[in-house]
Amino acid sequence: MPDTDFTIHPVTPTLGAEIGGLDLSRPLGPATASALVEALDHHLVLVFREQTLSDADLVRISGHFGPLDKAPITENGRLHAPGYEEVYVISNITENGRPIGALGAGESVWHADMTYLETPPYASSLYALEVPAEGGDTGFLSMFAAYDALPEPLKRRVEGLSIKHDSTTNSGGYLRQGFSPPADVATSPGTVHPLVIAHPVTGAKALLLGRRPHAHIPSLSVAASEALLDEIWAAAVRPELAWHHRWRVGDLVMWDNRWTMHRRDPFPADQRRRMHRTQIAVPADRRQDPRRTVAA
Ligand code: OGA
Ligand code: MN
Repeated sequence: MPDTDFTIHPVTPTLGAEIGGLDLSRPLGPATASALVEALDHHLVLVFREQTLSDADLVRISGHFGPLDKAPITENGRLHAPGYEEVYVISNITENGRPIGALGAGESVWHADMTYLETPPYASSLYALEVPAEGGDTGFLSMFAAYDALPEPLKRRVEGLSIKHDSTTNSGGYLRQGFSPPADVATSPGTVHPLVIAHPVTGAKALLLGRRPHAHIPSLSVAASEALLDEIWAAAVRPELAWHHRWRVGDLVMWDNRWTMHRRDPFPADQRRRMHRTQIAVPADRRQDPRRTVAA
């Protein structure tokens, strides 16, 4: 008798698994919930198909993974689903002349969420309510696989370096409210993290890149930092390492934000895309859990 009541089908060798056999609109038992947390640890991205979820369901399910952040301030201000401050909206739809969500219809760059914080979020979940007929896929990349893809000499060069993660601009290229465009990456606002992090249980190394625009390696001149970052990105962030999820209405996708990056393909601006999203902070009782620690 398996101790889980769901199936796990990995979608690529490096990350992603489709979880079958669960109706997430029904309460999850504690054993199932903790098995899902383990599955996310292991597979880094989980896909649940054909779900019918209310905002209350989304908050309840995400809450099994950790405490939820409030909707962040986006380029369009703080936009959350009515009645749910933890549920924010990723959408290109405007109602009464005002955007209901963030990120528009354009491409978003490869990124991890909010790595400009000292303790970036542990995980995010994204639930599809309306999807375009074409485009708008979300790609995912394992940062363990990205590190492994570096040539050995480059692995040696990046060891011990730090990297500043920009806090001015979001993944859609929009300036966050309250910030001005960075004029000089050496002095623009951001948070410094180790460039290489290790999984403290397995020892596997991963890159902590955050995103490319406005990043800076503080120990190098801007020119040298730009050159090295370009080299790292070219070697590590390769299309053949990525997996792109083609959305259907009713999909819920969760990702571990520590060990992955994601990006969104553009889609026709006259088509509607509406996603509800939660962001999960590192649970207080797991702050010391080495799997949750972003450390050198
Ligand atoms: C996000 C994000 C991508 C998408 O929600 O953090 O980057 O596909 N979304 O909407
Ligand atoms: Mn994101």
